[in-house]
Amino acid sequence: MKKRCLVVTGGGDCPGLNAVIRAIVRRASQEKDWEIIGSRDAFNGILSDPMEIEHLTERSVAGIHYRGGTILGTTNRGGPFAYPTKDENGKLIMIDRSTDLMQRIQDLNIQGVINIGGDGSQTISQQLFELGCKIIGVPKTIDNDLSATDYTFGFQTAVEIATEALDKLVTTAASHHRIIILEVMGREAGWIALHTALAGGAEICLIPEIPYDIIRIISTLEDRIKCKRGFANIVIAEGARSVSDNSDIEDESAGIFLMKKLKTYNLAAEIRLAVLGHIQRGGIPIAFDRILATQFGVKAFELVLENDFGKMVAYHHPDIVAVPIISAIKNYNFVDIDSNLVKTARGIGINFGD
Ligand code: F6P
Repeated sequence: MKKRCLVVTGGGDCPGLNAVIRAIVRRASQEKDWEIIGSRDAFNGILSDPMEIEHLTERSVAGIHYRGGTILGTTNRGGPFAYPTKDENGKLIMIDRSTDLMQRIQDLNIQGVINIGGDGSQTISQQLFELGCKIIGVPKTIDNDLSATDYTFGFQTAVEIATEALDKLVTTAASHHRIIILEVMGREAGWIALHTALAGGAEICLIPEIPYDIIRIISTLEDRIKCKRGFANIVIAEGARSVSDNSDIEDESAGIFLMKKLKTYNLAAEIRLAVLGHIQRGGIPIAFDRILATQFGVKAFELVLENDFGKMVAYHHPDIVAVPIISAIKNYNFVDIDSNLVKTARGIGINFGD
C-alpha cells in the first residue's frame, strides 16, 4: 500500500490555496510510493461518517493554480478539538474528536498531514503535533497576520483588489467632492489597510495598531476639502477603533461607526462608505501569490519526505524555510508602528488619526 499524505485547507478561504494543493500533488507524483488524499472542509471530511476524502491526482488538480477558493472546501468554525455536533436535545455542542482523528489517520496509512491555514489552523496543527501527528503547516491568510513568515500567500492579492477598489473610489470622490471611506479586512492587524492606503493614495489610514482620535482626522479632512483637492479618501481596517467611545462598534462595522461619527461634525462634503468585504478574499490569485503558494506546496511535501514534522513552511526572502509551528502562533504579526512602511506613509502625509 502506498504511503499517504493528507491535505487539508482550513479557516477562511484565500487566493492561492489551490496553487498549494496542485504543487503538493505534482511534487508527490515524482515519488512512486506516495499518494495524496484531501479531506473535505478542513478536518470535517475525515471525521464524518462516511468519510469525505478524495484522491488528488495530477489530473484532478490540473489547471487549478489560478482558481480562487479551495477545491477541498473549508470551514472556519470548530476543528478536531472542538467539533460541532448536536446533543440528544438537538442543541449544538462542541466535542473533542482528536482521538478519533488520530485513529483514522493511522487506519488510512497517512504518513504525513499538510494543514494549509491561518493562525487558528496552525494552532490546531501544533496541538495535533503534540499528540504525535506527523504534520506540516502552510501559512495562509489575506490578513498577513501570521508571524515567522515574511508574507502569507493571498495577502498581495487582497491588496491588489483593495487598491483597485480605492482607485475607483478616488475618481468618484473627486468628481462629487466627497469624502469616501473604504473599509477593508483586518480584524487584528492593519496590513491590508496600510498597503492599500500607500498604493492607492489615501489621506487617512486607520488600523487596529493605532487607535484613532476623531479630532485629529477632522482637521485633515477640513484642510483637504477647503484648501486642497476638495475630496478625501479614508482607508479603515475592520478592526480599527477610536481612542474613546467605541460603544456601538460591536453592532456595526468600523466603517459605519466612523461615517456616523464624521457626520456629526457637519463637514463641507458628503460622506460615503464602501465595505469591500469578501470581494478581497475571492477570485484569482495574482502571480506573486501563485508563485509563493507553489513554493510552499513543494517545500511542505519535501518536509514530509524528510520526516521533519511540527514545522511550518515560511518565506524568509529569498528562501522558503521550515520554522517550528509554535513560532508562528505564539506571536501575532502586527504592523510595527515604527517600521519603514509606517514612516513612509507618514512621510507622504498619511494621517493615522494619532
Ligand atoms: O481571517 C481572515 C478574515 O478575512 C478576516 O480579516 C475577517 O475578519 C474574517 O476572515 C471574515 O471571516 P468570515 O468569512 O467568517 O466572515
